Order: sequence, then structure tokens, then C-alpha cells
Amino acid sequence: MKDISASLHFEFEVHGGDFNKAGDASSRVKRILQQIGANPTVIRRVAVACYEAEMNVVIHARHGFVMLDADPSRVLIVVEDEGPGIEDIAMAMTPGFSTAPDSVREMGFGAGMGLPNMKNCSSLMEIKSEKGVGTMVRMVFENA
Ligand SMILES: Nc1ncnc2c1ncn2[C@@H]1O[C@H](COP(=O)(O)OP(=O)(O)OP(=O)(O)O)[C@@H](O)[C@H]1O
Ligand SMILES: [Mg+2]
Repeated sequence: MKDISASLHFEFEVHGGDFNKAGDASSRVKRILQQIGANPTVIRRVAVACYEAEMNVVIHARHGFVMLDADPSRVLIVVEDEGPGIEDIAMAMTPGFSTAPDSVREMGFGAGMGLPNMKNCSSLMEIKSEKGVGTMVRMVFENA
């Protein structure tokens, strides 16, 4: 029988445009992983990738969720939003590509490095997006 105590699941809401609360979901994820004694290297990678994904919802979308699912072998992060979607995912993945407006660049974002960073930090990353509907990013972090 599956030991349900060996896996955990959490969801946190993210509001587009809310720079005061930006980063809160990622901080919660990091703290939970620290509390369950996850591998520090995995925690660092998840924290960086999750923060970038959360910021993309804050900057580029209207509303979304960060979902954490962890078991002893891996951490799964799914970030799903309602927003404009990404028309050309390959272009969005190109280092330096950004559609962030000047107001956001003035805050230090918009280098176009979030998605490439998320790919580097995770063992596996998948993006699904529909123009005018929203975006889903799924990242797996192997505990190795
Ligand atoms: N959740 C999203 N919804 C809509 N578009 C997105 C989303 N995430 C990324 N994008 C698009 O992909 C581009 C590249 O994203 P990326 O995270 O690499 O850079 P950035 O957010 O523009 O800047 P940085 O992450 O360096 O602050 C964005 O500028 C935006 O056009
Ligand atoms: Mg970004």
C-alpha cells in the first residue's frame, strides 16, 4: 500500500501585478522543503526556479497558482496562470528575450533570463500555453 505520509502537496495563489506579495509563494515552498529536510542543493534549485516562475505570473499574467508536490525521490512544481499566454515558446526561452515593459525593467526585472534559468535549475521543464488563455509550467527536480 502507498505510504501517503511520504508525499505532500501545497498550493499558493499568485496575483498578477502585486509586487508587494511577489515572492511569497516561493518563500513558502522553500520553507516547507527545509522543514521536511530536503537536500539543500535541491532546495536551492527549486527556490530559484519557483521564484522566476512566480515572478512571471506577477509580471506577465493576471492570476495563478504555484503548486508543490514533494516525495522522497523528487520535487514537482507546477505554476499555472490565466493571462496572455506565450505565443512562441522557443522565442520566449531564448536568453535575453523579454516583453517586460519599462516600468517593470525599472524594478530590475525583464532581463529575459527567467525561463532559461528555470530550465537550468530543473531536471525537466515543460511549458504549455494558449494565447489569450494562460500558461502552465511544470518542473521536476530529481533528488539526486
Ligand atoms: N506566465 C507567462 N505569461 C505570459 N508570458 C510569459 C510568461 N512567462 C514568460 N512569458 C514571456 O516570455 C518572456 C521571457 O520570460 P523570462 O522569464 O525568460 O524573462 P522576463 O520575465 O521577461 O525577464 P526576467 O525573468 O529576466 O526578469 C517574457 O518577457 C514574456 O514575454
Ligand atoms: Mg521572468
